[in-house]
Amino acid sequence: AVDGATVRDPAVKVVEGAAVALDGVRVGLRKPRYLMLHKPAGCVCATSDGVHPTVLDLFPPAACDGLHVAGRLDLDVTGLVLLTDDGDWSHRVTAPRRKCPKTYRAELAEPIGEDALAVLRRGVRLRGEKEDTRPAEVERLGPAAVQITVTEGRYHQVKRMFAAVGNRVTALHRERIGPVTLDRALPPGAWRALTAGEGRG
Ligand code: URA
Repeated sequence: AVDGATVRDPAVKVVEGAAVALDGVRVGLRKPRYLMLHKPAGCVCATSDGVHPTVLDLFPPAACDGLHVAGRLDLDVTGLVLLTDDGDWSHRVTAPRRKCPKTYRAELAEPIGEDALAVLRRGVRLRGEKEDTRPAEVERLGPAAVQITVTEGRYHQVKRMFAAVGNRVTALHRERIGPVTLDRALPPGAWRALTAGEGRG
């Protein structure tokens, strides 16, 4: 029933704010959800997995309905993961043409030289690919630690970028996606809703 009148035509237009009821029970649109999670190592960014726990296992079952990850991290990678039930929004975050910047902190097996950092900044050819990576922002944090911002999301991109300059990532942590920075108050496994200041309130 819409505003008290039974409706039998599936094409009927329902205006926002109309009172909609099914068998006498009021129903309504749920507001879309936009969440940040501090992903711990050892859980997969998938809705189900036969072997490992998934990021959705970190949420109460009732909260999981329709939630999906906007931009995956590998099993061993920690840090910021965005989840939503708004498919248009997750598409905007992940669509390659949007070039959404993602910032990672990488710890490396070997000290890294300035020449290698310059190659990463310019763009590097990943094994088996036909195009160099897009220019990246790269800042040294220590002899074998780097902060890197990339605007693509190729398969295992950051690990493969360091492999392409002869090094190996031993730990990888995502700190930022576009305007959203991982809240330092969230321990691994914890989550919260994004705020209006983070693009979603
Ligand atoms: N780059 C990687 O290699 N792994 C990730 O999970 C994200 C970026």
